[in-house]
Amino acid sequence: MESHPSQSNSSSNFPKGFLWGSATASYQVEGGIENNDWAKAGREGKVPPAGISSDHYNRYEKDFDIAQSLSQNTHRLSIEWARIEPHEGQFDEKEIEHYRRVIQSLKRRGLEPFVTLWHFTLPIWFADKGGFENEESPKIFARYCKYVVSKLGDEAEFWMTINEPLIWASGSYFRGKWPPFKKNIFKFIRVQSSLVESHTLAFKSMKEINSNLKIGIAKNNMYFGADNKVWNIIAKNFMNWFWNERFLDKISGHQDFIGLNHYFYVKFGDKDKLPKTDMNWDIFPEAIYKCLVQLKKYNKPIYITENGIADEKDVMRGDFIKDYLKFVKKAIDEGVDVKGYFHWSLLDNFEWSFGFDKKFGLVEIVPKTLERKIRSSAYIYKKIAENNSIV
Ligand code: FCB
Repeated sequence: MESHPSQSNSSSNFPKGFLWGSATASYQVEGGIENNDWAKAGREGKVPPAGISSDHYNRYEKDFDIAQSLSQNTHRLSIEWARIEPHEGQFDEKEIEHYRRVIQSLKRRGLEPFVTLWHFTLPIWFADKGGFENEESPKIFARYCKYVVSKLGDEAEFWMTINEPLIWASGSYFRGKWPPFKKNIFKFIRVQSSLVESHTLAFKSMKEINSNLKIGIAKNNMYFGADNKVWNIIAKNFMNWFWNERFLDKISGHQDFIGLNHYFYVKFGDKDKLPKTDMNWDIFPEAIYKCLVQLKKYNKPIYITENGIADEKDVMRGDFIKDYLKFVKKAIDEGVDVKGYFHWSLLDNFEWSFGFDKKFGLVEIVPKTLERKIRSSAYIYKKIAENNSIV
């Protein structure tokens, strides 16, 4: 049963300096990327093509104007590895300068940049070498990360090496729905180990360049529940460890903050009847509270680096934001050090194997014309950001 956030803290305000923003990722919004594994799979008809997408590569100034007009004070973006290192060991300065302009245009608008170095898509040359199956992959990945921060480290304080290692590993090696479309439990485990090593080596290499950088990952954590059957309780406990803790435990000495991406409530056994998003994902706001409380033991600042809803009609998004944030506030009131919230997403975008059908944007992108239209829920979020409070 859904409980209500306690009123224990008399102030309804979020902590002073709380960051309010939204998130995107390069391949999902930029357009014009042809040299990564997703683009190749798109050409081969295995996944939808992203094409020009939301054309954010060219329209970022206007898009950040919108974010600013919505009273946001931070923004999470990702850098496309295939743009920066189009051939192995060859780096493209022009693309570095592009991202420098992007980051600077955020700062000019008072938006604190959070930069992800790898959000699911691999340069074709790296995928051809086996990607994270390759023994050398941690070195190759760390070299890329080090290069980027040697050029752009002065532009941003907050960096994430990897977005959702387990979601990526499971889409690519367990469910077999994402490049390289494998279903192999050994490789599923193997690439996770490589990602632990890759993050750790990247973390160290980036700190060598600039020890003041704040470095973490964006980790998808879910809330697992169960009915009262013993085997369901065992499954829940196992998955809670395997999915939510194992990776974080392995990198715990090498992160300055935790990025929490939260979308899912998974219940083993009898299901609860819950409202659903356009992705058919359950809406269960209390789940974010459970995930936050679980992260407390790592003793690191937490940023909610993604949370959002596919809702084409925009009839649920406003309440979704308020309800999830009430539970974020409850966690804060109970001593969890949450410092920011990034709604997924600023813009409608390419939702991986679903293509452009699923609408996650605070801002609608009109197909074909790519016109930007601010959805009404975006104003609900704006009000929260302005007041630093849900009421
Ligand atoms: C997350 C991904 C993000 C987006 C949302 C809906 O798992 O990090 O790119 O697709 O889901």
